Amino acid sequence: MVTHMQTPPIAYCPGSFDPITNGHLDIISRASRVFGTVIVAVAESAQKEFLFALEERVELCRTVCAHLPNVEVQSFSGLLVEAASQAGASVIIKGLRQALDLSHEGPMTYMNRSLRPEIETVFMLSSPECTYISSSLIKWVCSMGGEIEAQVPAAVAQRLRERLGKA
Ligand code: PNS
Repeated sequence: MVTHMQTPPIAYCPGSFDPITNGHLDIISRASRVFGTVIVAVAESAQKEFLFALEERVELCRTVCAHLPNVEVQSFSGLLVEAASQAGASVIIKGLRQALDLSHEGPMTYMNRSLRPEIETVFMLSSPECTYISSSLIKWVCSMGGEIEAQVPAAVAQRLRERLGKA
């Protein structure tokens, strides 16, 4: 007899999402099949310069995640682990495209674990077709008039071209 049934875990999926890409969507949609709820958590972060304002990044995430019923989109500021805890999440989910990502994510994971040991960070490997997708590269290519349709949803591609003057 199973005696340890619990409510399905809430996973917190943080990022800048400037803008959300097919790589993010790959991780979010696969996580939504594993966890009860996935919260896409858009970072406010005063330390970074973004192309899109926080409200626009949230809106684009909501638009492209609308077909995933157990995915919610929120913004957050301050420490990731505190925001995840306040949202009731027991898991932080991160996508890894390549080994270099782990060298960046590893120290943050250990720090987050020391701050909030009860929140587990779970890594998912990107699908092969998403390993080269990055918001920065997409913005660069789009700013020079290159095709970005294979890397971002149509709504994001349109918004990028409008913002970067390539519409
Ligand atoms: O998409 P990004 O830019 O790689 O996302 C980075 C993000 C938002 C996950 C990271 O900057 C973060 O965790 N910010 C919250 C502030 C925080 O908790 N910093 C300490 C981490 S050890």
